[in-house]
Amino acid sequence: MNTGAAFEPWQVSATRFPGQDAADEEQLRFMLGYAILAPSSHNTQPWIFRFHGSRVGLYADRTRGLPLADHQDRELTISCGAALFNLCLAIRHFGRTMVGQLLPDEANPDLLALIGLGERKQADHECNSLFGAICRRRTNRGPFEKRAPDPGFLEKMERVAVQDGAWLHVVHGRSMRHAVAELVAEGDRFQWHDARFRRELASWIHSNRSESHDGMPGYSFGHGDLQSILDPFLIRTFDVAERVAARDLDTAEKSPALLVLGTPGDTARDWLHAGRALQHILLHSTAGGLSCSFFNQPVQVDTLRPRLLAAIGRQGHPQVVMRMGFGGDVRPTPRRSVREVLRGG
Ligand SMILES: Cc1cc2nc3c(=O)[nH]c(=O)nc-3n(C[C@H](O)[C@H](O)[C@H](O)COP(=O)(O)O)c2cc1C
Repeated sequence: MNTGAAFEPWQVSATRFPGQDAADEEQLRFMLGYAILAPSSHNTQPWIFRFHGSRVGLYADRTRGLPLADHQDRELTISCGAALFNLCLAIRHFGRTMVGQLLPDEANPDLLALIGLGERKQADHECNSLFGAICRRRTNRGPFEKRAPDPGFLEKMERVAVQDGAWLHVVHGRSMRHAVAELVAEGDRFQWHDARFRRELASWIHSNRSESHDGMPGYSFGHGDLQSILDPFLIRTFDVAERVAARDLDTAEKSPALLVLGTPGDTARDWLHAGRALQHILLHSTAGGLSCSFFNQPVQVDTLRPRLLAAIGRQGHPQVVMRMGFGGDVRPTPRRSVREVLRGG
């Protein structure tokens, strides 16, 4: 069990909601406690919040970008879209509709959304179930059972993605699955051969005992305490591209379900839609007892992205590659508190 300030955000409890009669700002501030539990690339948590009257602005924190893995801030924006989805879910769960706008200020592309509370409306069962999954969702890189998710569930996830302005492609058939897994491995080789990529990754990987409020502890890769102390040094120093590629090829190919999430366009708005759809699918999965993890290498490497699209025979822009299945328990990763990500003014 993790203790310490970095894990306190996961203890957020609806019983501490200030109540519908509290000022909108006070309610929203509480609800941000759910937004910050969203997943983000390398657990960078690249978001900042700032109040504008009774509305809250979600800003991209580009100082937390990943120039090597994500040079366009594409995944950074997707991560913010996932945080936004959690916030919207919290608003609905606590009995309000959401009012707001994506990218409201053309002159300020860092302001990704401006969100406020609308009229009172009771949340439905599905909203409450997804809300309940926010604190239980984890990225699970561990082994999955062989059994696949129910086809009906995957079809529902395809519809969910479309509803959110994205698409979800379920990779069917041995040859298409192999082609996608090969691209994951090729992405690994490209990235791991590059010492700058390894340095960037190592800077976000921490020992299991670290008190850092962000980044990925070794245990999230299944590593014990000693190994986790060595991880950053080993990653920076040694090019183990072939080993990583072989492991990921095998895991991707054997995934109970292998999925590609994409969007029709490739703008910041599309990335926000992708983040919303991603988190929507992850929470449905959590609620249904399923686990997910990511293989985003073929999207992160520019030359592989069109090949990924061709391999699955779709139009548009792939954004996230992931696997889904039944896995074991996973510990939560650290989070920065609302106080750390909320700016005054
Ligand atoms: C857009 C996006 C891309 C990601 N890509 C990868 C990836 O390629 N490989 C991986 O292992 N994890 C990936 N992750 C998972 C993050 O590392 C993970 O969300 C983060 O470490 C926080 O852990 P948690 O999801 O358990 O809260 C990605 C997450 C997001 C939101």
